[in-house]
Amino acid sequence: MVFSHESFVEAARAAAAGPKATQAVRSLLKQVLADPKAVASAVPSQAEDEILLFEDETVSIWNCRFQPDVVMPPHEHKMDAHIGVFRGAEKNILFRREDGVLRHVATKTVHPGEVFSIGPDGVHAVTGDGGKPSQALHVYLGPLTRVRRGLFDWVTGAEIDFTMENFDRMKMPPDRLPVF
Ligand SMILES: [Fe+2]
Repeated sequence: MVFSHESFVEAARAAAAGPKATQAVRSLLKQVLADPKAVASAVPSQAEDEILLFEDETVSIWNCRFQPDVVMPPHEHKMDAHIGVFRGAEKNILFRREDGVLRHVATKTVHPGEVFSIGPDGVHAVTGDGGKPSQALHVYLGPLTRVRRGLFDWVTGAEIDFTMENFDRMKMPPDRLPVF
């Protein structure tokens, strides 16, 4: 079946509504992204980097493009996040909060066709890897724009309210990232 945002939203909503949502959403992403080039060519070109495709109390579905010259600041989601990449490579810099300090725990670069999940307590910073934009479908198991969640200062790890103003202010060029 040819990929479309509409059919993906319908399938992701059904997957997220079931009793084994994580398993179902991951398996849907793997299935849809089995041919990532087909998804990439079926997705309409978009002016905005991040597009909200659907949100209700159960699930939030986004198409997210990350540019290679900017790193999105460390943030939490407060719900399970499932990421399936179809273009480029999405670099996830993963942190753990320890006594109010942000500790870098791993960096995971997700390639086309791969699915990566982050739990409700996970904190990540994210960017396009390899000098090119990345593009992915992101499925969150809850109402992402309606929960109170945090951003974390790159250096001190201090929590700051997630607002678009703070998010934009804390974006970082990759060559200015602190050493973790
Ligand atoms: Fe995120």
